[in-house]
Amino acid sequence: MCGIFAYLNYNVARERRYIMEVLFNGLRRLEYRGYDSSGIAIDNDLSSAAGEGERPYASALPLVFRQEGKIESLVRSVYSEVDAMGLDLEKSFMVHAGIAHTRWATHGVPSPRNSHPQSSGSWDEFLVVHNGIITNYEVLKETLIRHGFTFESDTDTEVIPKLAKFVFDQARGGGDQSVTFSQVVIEVIRQLEGAYALIFKSSHYPNELIACRRGSTLILGVKGLTDEKSYAASFGDVKTLTADGQPKELFFSSDLCAIVEHTKNYLAIEDNEVVHLKDGSVSVLKFDYSKEKPASVQRALSVLEMEVEQIKKGNYDHFMQKEIHEQPHSLTTTMRGRLRDKSVVLGGLKDHLKTIRHSRRIIFVGCGTSYNAALAARPFLEELSGIPVTMELASDLLDRKGPIYREDTAVFVSQSGETADTLLALEYALSNGALCVGITNTVGSTLARKTHCGVHINAGCEIGVASTKAYTSQIVVITIMALAIGADSISTQSRRESIINSLSDLPDKVREVLRLDNEMKDLAESLMQMQSLLVFGRGYNYATALEGALKVKEVALTHSEGMLAGEMKHGPLALVDETLPIIVIATRDACFSQQQSVIQQLHARKGRLIVMCSSGDAASVCSGGSCRLIEVPLVADCLQPVINIIPLQLLAYHLTVLRGYDVDQPRNLAKSVTTQ
Ligand code: F6R
Repeated sequence: MCGIFAYLNYNVARERRYIMEVLFNGLRRLEYRGYDSSGIAIDNDLSSAAGEGERPYASALPLVFRQEGKIESLVRSVYSEVDAMGLDLEKSFMVHAGIAHTRWATHGVPSPRNSHPQSSGSWDEFLVVHNGIITNYEVLKETLIRHGFTFESDTDTEVIPKLAKFVFDQARGGGDQSVTFSQVVIEVIRQLEGAYALIFKSSHYPNELIACRRGSTLILGVKGLTDEKSYAASFGDVKTLTADGQPKELFFSSDLCAIVEHTKNYLAIEDNEVVHLKDGSVSVLKFDYSKEKPASVQRALSVLEMEVEQIKKGNYDHFMQKEIHEQPHSLTTTMRGRLRDKSVVLGGLKDHLKTIRHSRRIIFVGCGTSYNAALAARPFLEELSGIPVTMELASDLLDRKGPIYREDTAVFVSQSGETADTLLALEYALSNGALCVGITNTVGSTLARKTHCGVHINAGCEIGVASTKAYTSQIVVITIMALAIGADSISTQSRRESIINSLSDLPDKVREVLRLDNEMKDLAESLMQMQSLLVFGRGYNYATALEGALKVKEVALTHSEGMLAGEMKHGPLALVDETLPIIVIATRDACFSQQQSVIQQLHARKGRLIVMCSSGDAASVCSGGSCRLIEVPLVADCLQPVINIIPLQLLAYHLTVLRGYDVDQPRNLAKSVTTQ
């Protein structure tokens, strides 16, 4: 759940300040993944390195900086330390390898000692940045302690650089003076269990970097290619990269967002691949436990379809605000090329539609907002497919080992495509023989690669930790999927056509509902002091209640619960009094009259009501007591959750700003939860 980043320039002069800024900017882009603490390692220059003569190797000492708190506190502390050390920021390096890390704490409290880069010990001979979890670290630690290593941090990561030093010393001690960096790293990862994306830097191998992954995303960015097309075809060939002597810059990153400002040429590193950057060349080795030697592999570069504007806030104060307001655009992109006059097209599913139609059951699996999106779209999928659709929170499915069969279609929904629980549930479903479909926002993600087929939601990079635009795009994609699955049925043809029309109008309706921004700010002001909030929904909008409450909870740090209105009488009614604010979603659909009766019952208990209704329905929903209204445009019932969530996203956003909390990086959370 951390972010790792590295920058290597080769055959191009880069000043120390520039190198540091590239690393800091990489971390700023990845900060959404974790923001407890951070660190970087860069090179010193040999001439000014302290302790010369005592060092066990001939290259420059690395400079390692670690700091608790946000990236900006690292930036401040690095500049002040560099200043105090009298280092020249203008000093140029023709080749330099720097690594960086931003942390979401799993093992050990946030502190400089537990921050990365983690080190092999004095002299920082091996340094490692890590995203993921090493599950056998305790055993490795005990072994290393027996061999005389002392540990300074509480992290699982620290065993990795120490193991690298152990392997290196053993090889050298055993007479192998020519042991290469990749041989050391491969020997290390042979012993690691768990999930990881790792970047290694070593003073024994100056100007080289090695990255590898198992289970956690890792990207290589390549900048400065003279002939990108021919290069792409021969990628993996050692030396190709510098054959023309052009300046070259290389990046490793946990995420494409951090490289888009530098280059569009990238490689999504795969599990068990070890990527070695040396002398401006790239070699990709495939590691196999059963084989002594890894094989060299050829990989083609991909071209990133992302604009740099996507990762900038533009005129907005926060990413969450930007992402809420860009929903008319993100939904348009989601639907682009997928809607025809009377039908839909989903290229990623077309070869599997027949199997899906013959499934005994469709199971949605996801966590948090992604689960809620599937829940919102479930009734329409049930209606059009006639297949039972069940819902599974990924962690609960794993806890129960719920039955999944070959005749099932399991649909995995995940914005990041990297959520550990969802991926483990995917492995479980694959091993049970189900057809596995992925719905994700992240091209090249583990989910996208491991499912049999799937659909990208194409919502664009989502940076705010609270998911907003991905939610609405997920609902739309599942709705289109339902239309594709039900495409053969004559009896639902007119229903399908009317939903397709409604989908085309959706971006405009979203534009309309976004005009409630000031009204939601005003509502947020009136709710500033609340201790708790209930949100009641049902039918299509049960999910809206859950998702609206989740948004308020996670960013405004206020207790809120989304509830099925049909359950109100079975317990929650006891909470109702004149002070507790309750939002009731009562837009027009088949559940409207039931929601009217819920409102009446809440009025009878003098509840503090806020009612979300369709435009023009104010009088019919608010008779019998006082209530505050949120009037939203009416769209087709199955698409109404897309509209209804937006005022609640705005409410959560404004509450957070008014309360002075961090909107984009809420306390204790991180964007992609890559640990169980
Ligand atoms: C809430 C939120 C989380 C995620 C959940 C799953 O705003 O973002 O609840 O939805 O962690 O993440 P993905 O969709 O990446 O699998």
